[in-house]
Amino acid sequence: MSVRTLDYYDQHAAAFFADTIDVDMSPLQEHFLRLLPDRARILDAGCGSGRDAKCFADRGYRVTAFDASPKLVALAASHLGQPVHCLRFQDLSWEHEFDGIWASASLLHVPIAELPDVLRRLTRALKRPGVLYASFKYGQGEREHRGRRFTDLDEPGLAALLRHVPDLEPVRIWSSTDRRPGREAERWLNTILRTTGSTWVNS
Ligand SMILES: C[S@@+](CC[C@H](N)C(=O)[O-])C[C@H]1O[C@@H](n2cnc3c(N)ncnc32)[C@H](O)[C@@H]1O
Repeated sequence: MSVRTLDYYDQHAAAFFADTIDVDMSPLQEHFLRLLPDRARILDAGCGSGRDAKCFADRGYRVTAFDASPKLVALAASHLGQPVHCLRFQDLSWEHEFDGIWASASLLHVPIAELPDVLRRLTRALKRPGVLYASFKYGQGEREHRGRRFTDLDEPGLAALLRHVPDLEPVRIWSSTDRRPGREAERWLNTILRTTGSTWVNS
């Protein structure tokens, strides 16, 4: 994770908040929420504006949220109405705390070489059974675009990554278009992963 990406979010926090706060993520959220028990504990990982954390909290889920941009953390805390942690994926140390982790368009800023360790940290933060949603820009390789760095993934890229994380297995992998008006041409890779060796009743 280059410092520049976090600088970008800090410098553009108000504009990023305004651009993303009203995006309707409900079709993606439903795939995730249907795998969780009532009142599940959810971690919004790289929460940005706090939009999704607030949706989950409003539906009765117990929510924890974090982001690595101090400015977005402040905006998200105000929107969510509860403290938001200022944390990097690379420093996570929760153990068996959450039924579900929601990482919407956030792990895409982690360098590919660091993703196995970050995914293992996220897995450790999950209870058993536990569920992780993540999304990436659809593609291959690493790139920089307008001050941010990205790791793009397609299905083979995700499969190669998961070979380093044996405690997670895919429940679902699908592509979608961007939900922001005017950006429908952009493709995303979505995945729902679950802890291996767990008993599942509602998948
Ligand atoms: C494209 S935004 C997505 C925000 C939100 N999840 C959403 O769907 O609107 C990426 C977010 O990831 C955060 N981020 C980037 N690198 C991070 C890291 N290493 N640890 C934690 N958060 C990070 C950024 O600050 C930013 O809020």
